[in-house]
Amino acid sequence: MTDILLVDDEKSIRTTLSLFLERQGFKVEPISDGKSAVEKLKTNFYDLVITDLKMKDVDGLQVLREAKAINPLTEVIVLTGFGTVESGVEAIKLGAYDYIQKPVDMDEFVLLIEKALERKDLKLKVEQLQTELKDKYRFENIVGKSKEMMDVFSLVFKVAPTDSTVLITGESGTGKELIARAMHENSRRKNRTFVTINCGALPENIQESELFGHVRGSFTGAIKDKRGLFQEANGGTLFLDEVGEMSLATQVKVLRFLQNGEIRRVGDNEPIFVDVRLIAATNQDLENGINEGTFREDLFYRLNVIPIKMPPLRRRRDDIPLLISYFIDKYSEKSGKKVHSISPEAEKILTGYRWPGNVRELENVIERAVILTNKNTILPEDLPSSIRTSMEIETGSDDGFDEIPLEELEKKQILKILNKYSWNQKKASEILGISTTTLWRKLKAYGIEPKKM
Ligand SMILES: Nc1ncnc2c1ncn2[C@@H]1O[C@H](COP(=O)(O)OP(=O)(O)OP(=O)(O)O)[C@@H](O)[C@H]1O
Ligand SMILES: [Mg+2]
Repeated sequence: MTDILLVDDEKSIRTTLSLFLERQGFKVEPISDGKSAVEKLKTNFYDLVITDLKMKDVDGLQVLREAKAINPLTEVIVLTGFGTVESGVEAIKLGAYDYIQKPVDMDEFVLLIEKALERKDLKLKVEQLQTELKDKYRFENIVGKSKEMMDVFSLVFKVAPTDSTVLITGESGTGKELIARAMHENSRRKNRTFVTINCGALPENIQESELFGHVRGSFTGAIKDKRGLFQEANGGTLFLDEVGEMSLATQVKVLRFLQNGEIRRVGDNEPIFVDVRLIAATNQDLENGINEGTFREDLFYRLNVIPIKMPPLRRRRDDIPLLISYFIDKYSEKSGKKVHSISPEAEKILTGYRWPGNVRELENVIERAVILTNKNTILPEDLPSSIRTSMEIETGSDDGFDEIPLEELEKKQILKILNKYSWNQKKASEILGISTTTLWRKLKAYGIEPKKM
Protein backbone atom coordinates (compact mmCIF):
# COMPACT_ATOMS: atom_id res chain seq x y z
CA MET A 1 0.00 0.00 0.00
CA THR A 2 1.32 3.40 -0.88
CA ASP A 3 0.98 6.05 1.78
CA ILE A 4 0.65 9.63 0.71
CA LEU A 5 0.65 12.71 2.92
CA LEU A 6 -1.27 15.53 1.27
CA VAL A 7 -0.69 19.00 2.66
CA ASP A 8 -2.75 21.98 1.50
CA ASP A 9 -4.39 24.79 3.42
CA GLU A 10 -7.21 25.03 0.94
CA LYS A 11 -10.02 22.69 1.88
CA SER A 12 -11.48 22.29 -1.63
CA ILE A 13 -8.13 21.19 -3.01
CA ARG A 14 -7.57 18.76 -0.16
CA THR A 15 -10.94 17.15 -0.74
CA THR A 16 -10.72 16.94 -4.52
CA LEU A 17 -7.18 15.59 -4.60
CA SER A 18 -7.57 13.07 -1.81
CA LEU A 19 -10.78 11.73 -3.31
CA PHE A 20 -9.07 11.42 -6.64
CA LEU A 21 -5.98 9.75 -5.22
CA GLU A 22 -7.99 7.32 -3.16
CA ARG A 23 -9.86 6.31 -6.24
CA GLN A 24 -6.48 5.56 -7.82
CA GLY A 25 -5.83 3.11 -5.00
CA PHE A 26 -3.54 5.20 -2.78
CA LYS A 27 -3.89 5.68 0.94
CA VAL A 28 -4.08 9.41 1.55
CA GLU A 29 -3.79 11.46 4.69
CA PRO A 30 -4.97 15.04 4.13
CA ILE A 31 -3.46 17.72 6.39
CA SER A 32 -4.29 21.40 6.45
CA ASP A 33 -1.07 23.00 7.67
CA GLY A 34 2.68 22.57 7.50
CA LYS A 35 3.25 22.31 11.23
CA SER A 36 1.01 19.28 11.74
CA ALA A 37 2.44 17.79 8.56
CA VAL A 38 5.92 17.86 10.04
CA GLU A 39 4.60 16.23 13.21
CA LYS A 40 3.06 13.46 11.12
CA LEU A 41 6.31 12.95 9.23
CA LYS A 42 8.13 12.36 12.47
CA THR A 43 5.89 9.51 13.52
CA ASN A 44 4.76 7.86 10.29
CA PHE A 45 6.44 6.75 7.11
CA TYR A 46 5.06 8.12 3.86
CA ASP A 47 6.16 6.98 0.44
CA LEU A 48 5.20 10.30 -0.99
CA VAL A 49 4.45 13.78 0.30
CA ILE A 50 2.42 16.13 -1.84
CA THR A 51 2.51 19.61 -0.47
CA ASP A 52 1.28 23.04 -1.37
CA LEU A 53 4.08 25.54 -1.54
CA LYS A 54 2.48 28.69 -0.17
CA MET A 55 1.13 28.19 3.33
CA LYS A 56 1.13 30.32 6.46
CA ASP A 57 3.73 29.65 9.18
CA VAL A 58 5.38 26.45 7.97
CA ASP A 59 5.43 26.55 4.17
CA GLY A 60 5.87 23.82 1.57
CA LEU A 61 9.62 24.24 1.29
CA GLN A 62 9.97 23.67 5.00
CA VAL A 63 7.79 20.57 4.81
CA LEU A 64 10.01 19.38 1.99
CA ARG A 65 13.20 20.01 3.97
CA GLU A 66 11.86 18.20 7.01
CA ALA A 67 10.55 15.28 4.99
CA LYS A 68 13.93 14.78 3.32
CA ALA A 69 15.81 15.18 6.59
CA ILE A 70 13.61 12.64 8.37
CA ASN A 71 13.73 10.11 5.57
CA PRO A 72 15.62 10.74 2.34
CA LEU A 73 13.66 7.93 0.70
CA THR A 74 10.40 9.88 0.91
CA GLU A 75 9.66 11.55 -2.39
CA VAL A 76 8.07 14.97 -2.45
CA ILE A 77 5.95 16.64 -5.11
CA VAL A 78 5.06 20.29 -4.59
CA LEU A 79 1.97 22.10 -5.79
CA THR A 80 2.61 25.60 -7.02
CA GLY A 81 0.22 28.38 -7.79
CA PHE A 82 -0.02 29.95 -11.19
CA GLY A 83 3.14 31.79 -12.23
CA THR A 84 5.40 30.62 -9.43
CA VAL A 85 7.72 28.46 -11.48
CA GLU A 86 10.77 29.81 -9.64
CA SER A 87 9.71 28.34 -6.32
CA GLY A 88 8.98 25.04 -8.07
CA VAL A 89 12.52 25.00 -9.38
CA GLU A 90 13.82 25.93 -5.97
CA ALA A 91 11.90 22.97 -4.51
CA ILE A 92 13.59 20.61 -6.99
CA LYS A 93 16.95 21.95 -5.90
CA LEU A 94 16.01 21.08 -2.35
CA GLY A 95 15.26 17.53 -3.36
CA ALA A 96 11.64 17.55 -4.49
CA TYR A 97 10.90 15.02 -7.22
CA ASP A 98 9.04 17.63 -9.26
CA TYR A 99 6.42 20.32 -9.03
CA ILE A 100 3.03 20.63 -10.62
CA GLN A 101 1.05 23.79 -11.21
CA LYS A 102 -2.43 24.41 -9.98
CA PRO A 103 -5.04 23.89 -11.32
CA VAL A 104 -3.77 20.34 -11.36
CA ASP A 105 -4.05 18.37 -14.59
CA MET A 106 -5.07 14.97 -13.27
CA ASP A 107 -3.44 12.87 -15.99
CA GLU A 108 -0.16 14.65 -15.54
CA PHE A 109 -0.54 14.32 -11.78
CA VAL A 110 -0.93 10.54 -11.82
CA LEU A 111 1.98 10.15 -14.18
CA LEU A 112 4.17 12.26 -11.94
CA ILE A 113 3.19 10.26 -8.87
CA GLU A 114 3.96 7.01 -10.57
CA LYS A 115 7.36 8.21 -11.66
CA ALA A 116 8.17 9.55 -8.22
CA LEU A 117 7.25 6.22 -6.65
CA GLU A 118 9.36 4.38 -9.19
CA ARG A 119 12.34 6.47 -8.25
CA LYS A 120 11.73 5.75 -4.59
CA ASP A 121 11.67 2.00 -5.20
CA LEU A 122 14.87 2.19 -7.15
CA LYS A 123 16.60 4.14 -4.40
CA LEU A 124 15.41 1.61 -1.89
CA LYS A 125 16.91 -1.23 -3.88
CA VAL A 126 20.23 0.48 -4.38
CA GLU A 127 20.28 1.29 -0.70
CA GLN A 128 19.61 -2.33 0.24
CA LEU A 129 22.34 -3.42 -2.09
CA GLN A 130 24.77 -0.98 -0.60
CA THR A 131 24.12 -2.06 2.98
CA GLU A 132 24.52 -5.61 1.85
CA LEU A 133 27.78 -4.67 0.22
CA LYS A 134 29.01 -2.86 3.28
CA ASP A 135 28.49 -6.02 5.29
CA LYS A 136 30.01 -8.39 2.87
CA TYR A 137 31.84 -6.38 0.25
CA ARG A 138 30.53 -8.75 -2.32
CA PHE A 139 27.70 -9.36 -4.68
CA GLU A 140 26.98 -12.97 -5.46
CA ASN A 141 30.49 -14.34 -5.82
CA ILE A 142 31.87 -11.09 -7.10
CA VAL A 143 34.33 -9.47 -4.78
CA GLY A 144 35.09 -5.76 -4.78
CA LYS A 145 34.82 -2.70 -2.64
CA SER A 146 36.44 -0.09 -4.84
CA LYS A 147 34.38 2.84 -6.00
CA GLU A 148 34.74 1.49 -9.55
CA MET A 149 33.24 -1.88 -8.65
CA MET A 150 30.51 -0.34 -6.50
CA ASP A 151 29.44 1.64 -9.54
CA VAL A 152 29.37 -1.57 -11.58
CA PHE A 153 27.34 -3.33 -8.89
CA SER A 154 24.70 -0.66 -8.65
CA LEU A 155 24.37 -0.56 -12.41
CA VAL A 156 24.01 -4.35 -12.49
CA PHE A 157 21.42 -4.14 -9.80
CA LYS A 158 19.47 -1.51 -11.66
CA VAL A 159 19.42 -3.13 -15.07
CA ALA A 160 19.39 -6.82 -14.14
CA PRO A 161 15.59 -6.98 -13.68
CA THR A 162 14.92 -5.32 -17.03
CA ASP A 163 15.04 -6.94 -20.44
CA SER A 164 17.48 -4.38 -21.81
CA THR A 165 20.32 -5.61 -23.93
CA VAL A 166 23.63 -5.13 -22.20
CA LEU A 167 27.12 -4.82 -23.62
CA ILE A 168 29.93 -5.60 -21.19
CA THR A 169 33.36 -4.43 -22.21
CA GLY A 170 36.70 -4.75 -20.50
CA GLU A 171 40.10 -6.36 -20.69
CA SER A 172 40.48 -10.09 -20.48
CA GLY A 173 39.99 -11.49 -16.97
CA THR A 174 38.13 -8.50 -15.53
CA GLY A 175 34.99 -10.51 -14.73
CA LYS A 176 32.73 -9.90 -17.70
CA GLU A 177 31.23 -13.35 -17.66
CA LEU A 178 30.74 -13.19 -13.91
CA ILE A 179 28.77 -9.97 -14.32
CA ALA A 180 26.69 -11.44 -17.13
CA ARG A 181 25.71 -14.34 -14.87
CA ALA A 182 24.93 -11.98 -12.00
CA MET A 183 22.57 -10.11 -14.32
CA HIS A 184 20.77 -13.31 -15.14
CA GLU A 185 20.62 -14.44 -11.51
CA ASN A 186 19.06 -11.15 -10.50
CA SER A 187 16.41 -11.12 -13.20
CA ARG A 188 12.97 -12.66 -13.48
CA ARG A 189 14.59 -15.11 -15.90
CA LYS A 190 16.73 -16.68 -13.19
CA ASN A 191 14.82 -19.95 -13.17
CA ARG A 192 15.27 -20.36 -16.90
CA THR A 193 18.50 -21.13 -18.69
CA PHE A 194 21.58 -19.00 -19.09
CA VAL A 195 23.09 -20.04 -22.38
CA THR A 196 26.61 -19.04 -23.43
CA ILE A 197 28.13 -18.94 -26.85
CA ASN A 198 31.75 -17.99 -27.36
CA CYS A 199 31.79 -16.49 -30.82
CA GLY A 200 35.57 -16.50 -30.90
CA ALA A 201 35.76 -20.25 -30.44
CA LEU A 202 33.44 -21.11 -33.34
CA PRO A 203 34.33 -21.07 -37.03
CA GLU A 204 32.24 -18.52 -38.89
CA ASN A 205 30.25 -21.04 -40.89
CA ILE A 206 29.09 -22.84 -37.75
CA GLN A 207 28.11 -19.76 -35.71
CA GLU A 208 24.90 -19.25 -37.60
CA SER A 209 23.56 -22.76 -37.24
CA GLU A 210 24.68 -22.96 -33.59
CA LEU A 211 22.75 -19.83 -32.75
CA PHE A 212 19.72 -20.20 -34.95
CA GLY A 213 19.56 -23.91 -35.67
CA HIS A 214 19.03 -25.47 -39.07
CA VAL A 215 16.70 -27.73 -40.95
CA ARG A 216 17.71 -31.05 -42.33
CA GLY A 217 19.46 -30.88 -45.67
CA SER A 218 20.08 -27.15 -45.55
CA PHE A 219 23.81 -27.78 -46.02
CA THR A 220 26.13 -30.78 -46.31
CA GLY A 221 26.28 -32.42 -42.95
CA ALA A 222 22.90 -31.15 -41.80
CA ILE A 223 21.53 -34.63 -41.49
CA LYS A 224 18.69 -33.72 -39.19
CA ASP A 225 16.86 -30.69 -37.82
CA LYS A 226 18.73 -28.87 -35.07
CA ARG A 227 17.50 -26.38 -32.53
CA GLY A 228 19.73 -23.37 -32.07
CA LEU A 229 20.88 -21.68 -28.89
CA PHE A 230 18.28 -18.94 -29.26
CA GLN A 231 15.61 -21.58 -28.87
CA GLU A 232 17.50 -23.23 -26.02
CA ALA A 233 17.58 -19.89 -24.24
CA ASN A 234 13.87 -19.20 -24.72
CA GLY A 235 12.57 -17.50 -21.59
CA GLY A 236 16.12 -17.03 -20.35
CA THR A 237 19.31 -15.20 -21.19
CA LEU A 238 21.72 -15.70 -24.07
CA PHE A 239 25.28 -14.57 -23.46
CA LEU A 240 27.17 -13.69 -26.62
CA ASP A 241 30.78 -13.83 -25.50
CA GLU A 242 33.51 -12.30 -27.65
CA VAL A 243 30.83 -10.76 -29.78
CA GLY A 244 33.49 -8.89 -31.77
CA GLU A 245 34.36 -12.22 -33.39
CA MET A 246 30.87 -12.78 -34.73
CA SER A 247 30.67 -13.19 -38.50
CA LEU A 248 28.91 -10.49 -40.49
CA ALA A 249 26.28 -12.95 -41.70
CA THR A 250 25.43 -13.90 -38.12
CA GLN A 251 25.41 -10.24 -37.10
CA VAL A 252 22.64 -9.58 -39.61
CA LYS A 253 20.51 -12.30 -38.07
CA VAL A 254 21.14 -11.16 -34.50
CA LEU A 255 20.19 -7.64 -35.54
CA ARG A 256 16.95 -8.92 -37.00
CA PHE A 257 16.19 -10.67 -33.74
CA LEU A 258 16.79 -7.45 -31.80
CA GLN A 259 14.52 -5.56 -34.15
CA ASN A 260 11.52 -7.84 -34.14
CA GLY A 261 12.15 -10.73 -31.79
CA GLU A 262 12.15 -13.35 -34.51
CA ILE A 263 14.74 -15.80 -35.70
CA ARG A 264 14.98 -18.08 -38.71
CA ARG A 265 16.68 -21.44 -38.77
CA VAL A 266 19.25 -21.94 -41.51
CA GLY A 267 17.43 -23.27 -44.54
CA ASP A 268 14.02 -22.27 -43.22
CA ASN A 269 11.96 -19.22 -44.10
CA GLU A 270 9.43 -19.53 -41.32
CA PRO A 271 10.08 -17.01 -38.55
CA ILE A 272 10.17 -18.35 -35.00
CA PHE A 273 9.47 -15.96 -32.15
CA VAL A 274 11.64 -16.32 -29.07
CA ASP A 275 11.72 -14.49 -25.75
CA VAL A 276 15.41 -14.09 -25.07
CA ARG A 277 17.43 -11.45 -23.30
CA LEU A 278 20.81 -10.78 -24.87
CA ILE A 279 23.94 -9.92 -22.98
CA ALA A 280 27.08 -9.45 -25.05
CA ALA A 281 30.69 -9.11 -24.01
CA THR A 282 33.91 -8.20 -25.71
CA ASN A 283 37.48 -7.38 -24.81
CA GLN A 284 37.98 -5.67 -28.15
CA ASP A 285 37.18 -2.16 -29.11
CA LEU A 286 34.06 -2.66 -31.22
CA GLU A 287 34.42 0.85 -32.58
CA ASN A 288 37.62 -0.30 -34.29
CA GLY A 289 35.66 -3.19 -35.73
CA ILE A 290 33.11 -0.73 -37.07
CA ASN A 291 35.83 1.36 -38.70
CA GLU A 292 37.39 -1.72 -40.21
CA GLY A 293 34.07 -2.99 -41.48
CA THR A 294 34.09 -6.19 -39.43
CA PHE A 295 31.36 -5.09 -37.06
CA ARG A 296 28.00 -3.60 -38.01
CA GLU A 297 27.40 -0.19 -36.58
CA ASP A 298 23.64 -0.70 -36.31
CA LEU A 299 24.17 -3.88 -34.32
CA PHE A 300 26.63 -2.10 -32.06
CA TYR A 301 24.00 0.48 -31.12
CA ARG A 302 21.37 -2.18 -30.57
CA LEU A 303 23.67 -4.11 -28.26
CA ASN A 304 25.07 -1.11 -26.48
CA VAL A 305 21.76 -0.04 -24.92
CA ILE A 306 23.29 -0.44 -21.48
CA PRO A 307 27.09 -0.34 -21.59
CA ILE A 308 28.97 -1.77 -18.63
CA LYS A 309 32.69 -1.14 -18.54
CA MET A 310 34.71 -3.46 -16.36
CA PRO A 311 37.65 -1.54 -14.93
CA PRO A 312 41.05 -3.25 -15.18
CA LEU A 313 42.43 -4.47 -11.86
CA ARG A 314 45.30 -1.97 -11.84
CA ARG A 315 42.71 0.83 -11.77
CA ARG A 316 41.15 -0.52 -8.59
CA ARG A 317 44.01 -1.68 -6.45
CA ASP A 318 41.87 -1.41 -3.27
CA ASP A 319 40.19 -4.61 -4.39
CA ILE A 320 43.40 -6.61 -4.53
CA PRO A 321 43.76 -7.50 -0.80
CA LEU A 322 40.09 -8.47 -0.67
CA LEU A 323 40.42 -10.66 -3.75
CA ILE A 324 43.59 -12.25 -2.37
CA SER A 325 41.87 -13.38 0.81
CA TYR A 326 38.82 -14.52 -1.13
CA PHE A 327 40.98 -16.70 -3.37
CA ILE A 328 43.09 -17.98 -0.47
CA ASP A 329 39.91 -19.23 1.19
CA LYS A 330 38.60 -20.66 -2.04
CA TYR A 331 41.74 -22.61 -2.90
CA SER A 332 42.71 -23.78 0.56
CA GLU A 333 39.26 -25.23 0.90
CA LYS A 334 39.49 -26.81 -2.51
CA SER A 335 42.95 -28.29 -1.93
CA GLY A 336 42.31 -29.21 1.70
CA LYS A 337 45.30 -27.16 2.84
CA LYS A 338 45.29 -24.86 5.84
CA VAL A 339 46.62 -21.73 4.19
CA HIS A 340 44.85 -18.74 5.69
CA SER A 341 46.91 -15.64 5.12
CA ILE A 342 49.52 -13.80 3.13
CA SER A 343 52.58 -12.02 4.50
CA PRO A 344 52.62 -8.21 4.24
CA GLU A 345 55.63 -8.32 1.87
CA ALA A 346 53.92 -10.76 -0.46
CA GLU A 347 50.73 -8.71 -0.38
CA LYS A 348 52.69 -5.58 -1.21
CA ILE A 349 54.19 -7.25 -4.25
CA LEU A 350 50.73 -8.27 -5.46
CA THR A 351 49.11 -4.89 -4.88
CA GLY A 352 51.91 -3.18 -6.80
CA TYR A 353 51.88 -5.46 -9.83
CA ARG A 354 50.29 -4.35 -13.12
CA TRP A 355 48.03 -7.39 -13.61
CA PRO A 356 47.77 -7.47 -17.40
CA GLY A 357 45.63 -10.61 -17.01
CA ASN A 358 43.50 -8.93 -14.34
CA VAL A 359 41.53 -10.97 -11.79
CA ARG A 360 42.01 -14.21 -13.66
CA GLU A 361 45.79 -13.82 -13.42
CA LEU A 362 45.56 -12.97 -9.71
CA GLU A 363 43.35 -15.99 -9.12
CA ASN A 364 45.88 -18.25 -10.85
CA VAL A 365 48.76 -16.81 -8.85
CA ILE A 366 46.96 -17.44 -5.56
CA GLU A 367 45.89 -20.93 -6.56
CA ARG A 368 49.48 -21.78 -7.45
CA ALA A 369 50.83 -20.29 -4.22
CA VAL A 370 48.33 -22.21 -2.09
CA ILE A 371 49.34 -25.44 -3.77
CA LEU A 372 53.08 -24.76 -3.59
CA THR A 373 53.44 -23.54 -0.05
CA ASN A 374 54.00 -25.84 2.89
CA LYS A 375 53.25 -23.13 5.46
CA ASN A 376 49.94 -21.55 6.31
CA THR A 377 50.97 -18.12 5.10
CA ILE A 378 51.84 -17.17 1.56
CA LEU A 379 55.31 -15.66 1.33
CA PRO A 380 57.05 -13.79 -1.52
CA GLU A 381 58.93 -16.97 -2.45
CA ASP A 382 55.59 -18.63 -3.27
CA LEU A 383 54.91 -16.06 -5.98
CA PRO A 384 56.09 -16.46 -9.59
CA SER A 385 59.49 -14.87 -10.09
CA SER A 386 58.20 -12.84 -13.05
CA ILE A 387 55.87 -11.00 -10.68
CA ARG A 388 58.51 -10.52 -8.00
CA THR A 389 60.97 -9.02 -10.46
CA SER A 390 58.44 -6.80 -12.17
CA MET A 391 57.66 -5.38 -8.75
CA GLU A 392 61.32 -4.50 -8.33
CA ILE A 393 61.20 -2.54 -11.55
CA GLU A 394 58.00 -0.77 -10.61
CA THR A 395 59.05 0.17 -7.09
CA GLY A 396 62.33 1.43 -8.49
CA SER A 397 60.50 4.16 -10.33
CA ASP A 398 57.37 4.32 -8.26
CA ASP A 399 56.79 7.92 -7.39
CA GLY A 400 53.04 7.77 -7.58
CA PHE A 401 53.19 7.88 -11.34
CA ASP A 402 50.44 5.78 -12.82
CA GLU A 403 49.99 4.82 -16.44
CA ILE A 404 46.67 6.54 -16.94
CA PRO A 405 45.18 6.65 -20.43
CA LEU A 406 44.54 10.16 -21.73
CA GLU A 407 40.82 9.50 -21.88
CA GLU A 408 40.66 8.76 -18.21
CA LEU A 409 42.59 11.88 -17.31
CA GLU A 410 40.19 13.89 -19.41
CA LYS A 411 37.15 12.34 -17.79
CA LYS A 412 38.56 12.97 -14.32
CA GLN A 413 39.34 16.59 -15.09
CA ILE A 414 35.87 17.19 -16.51
CA LEU A 415 34.25 15.72 -13.41
CA LYS A 416 36.49 17.73 -11.12
CA ILE A 417 35.67 21.02 -12.78
CA LEU A 418 31.96 20.25 -13.01
CA ASN A 419 31.83 19.39 -9.33
CA LYS A 420 33.77 22.49 -8.42
CA TYR A 421 31.32 24.71 -10.30
CA SER A 422 28.14 22.96 -9.18
CA TRP A 423 27.66 21.30 -12.56
CA ASN A 424 27.33 24.61 -14.32
CA GLN A 425 28.21 23.38 -17.80
CA LYS A 426 28.71 26.80 -19.29
CA LYS A 427 31.24 27.77 -16.64
CA ALA A 428 32.94 24.37 -16.80
CA SER A 429 33.34 24.48 -20.57
CA GLU A 430 34.88 27.98 -20.34
CA ILE A 431 37.45 26.74 -17.86
CA LEU A 432 38.16 23.59 -19.86
CA GLY A 433 38.54 25.70 -22.97
CA ILE A 434 35.96 23.83 -25.02
CA SER A 435 32.52 24.71 -26.33
CA THR A 436 29.41 23.66 -24.42
CA THR A 437 28.51 21.32 -27.28
CA THR A 438 31.90 19.62 -27.05
CA LEU A 439 31.45 19.28 -23.31
CA TRP A 440 28.00 17.82 -23.85
CA ARG A 441 29.39 15.32 -26.36
CA LYS A 442 32.14 14.28 -24.00
CA LEU A 443 29.72 13.81 -21.11
CA LYS A 444 27.69 11.57 -23.31
CA ALA A 445 30.71 9.63 -24.53
CA TYR A 446 31.93 9.06 -20.99
CA GLY A 447 28.46 8.15 -19.78
CA ILE A 448 28.41 11.02 -17.28
CA GLU A 449 24.89 12.05 -16.29
CA PRO A 450 24.65 15.82 -15.97
CA LYS A 451 23.43 16.72 -12.48
CA LYS A 452 20.86 19.36 -11.69
CA MET A 453 22.00 21.49 -8.81
N1 LIG B 1 35.38 -9.38 -8.86
C1 LIG B 1 35.68 -10.68 -8.88
N2 LIG B 1 35.52 -11.44 -7.76
C2 LIG B 1 35.83 -12.74 -7.77
N3 LIG B 1 36.28 -13.40 -8.83
C3 LIG B 1 36.45 -12.72 -9.97
C4 LIG B 1 36.16 -11.33 -10.06
N4 LIG B 1 36.40 -10.92 -11.32
C5 LIG B 1 36.84 -11.99 -11.99
N5 LIG B 1 36.85 -13.08 -11.19
C6 LIG B 1 37.33 -14.43 -11.57
O1 LIG B 1 38.33 -14.25 -12.55
C7 LIG B 1 38.15 -15.17 -13.62
C8 LIG B 1 37.93 -14.43 -14.91
O2 LIG B 1 36.65 -13.84 -14.91
P1 LIG B 1 35.72 -13.84 -16.21
O3 LIG B 1 35.82 -15.14 -16.92
O4 LIG B 1 34.37 -13.37 -15.83
O5 LIG B 1 36.51 -12.73 -17.04
P2 LIG B 1 36.24 -12.17 -18.51
O6 LIG B 1 36.23 -10.69 -18.39
O7 LIG B 1 35.05 -12.83 -19.09
O8 LIG B 1 37.57 -12.58 -19.27
P3 LIG B 1 37.79 -12.91 -20.85
O9 LIG B 1 37.67 -11.61 -21.58
O10 LIG B 1 39.19 -13.42 -20.89
O11 LIG B 1 36.77 -13.91 -21.23
C9 LIG B 1 37.00 -16.08 -13.24
O12 LIG B 1 37.49 -17.24 -12.62
C10 LIG B 1 36.22 -15.24 -12.24
O13 LIG B 1 35.55 -16.06 -11.34
MG1 LIG C 1 34.93 -14.21 -20.64
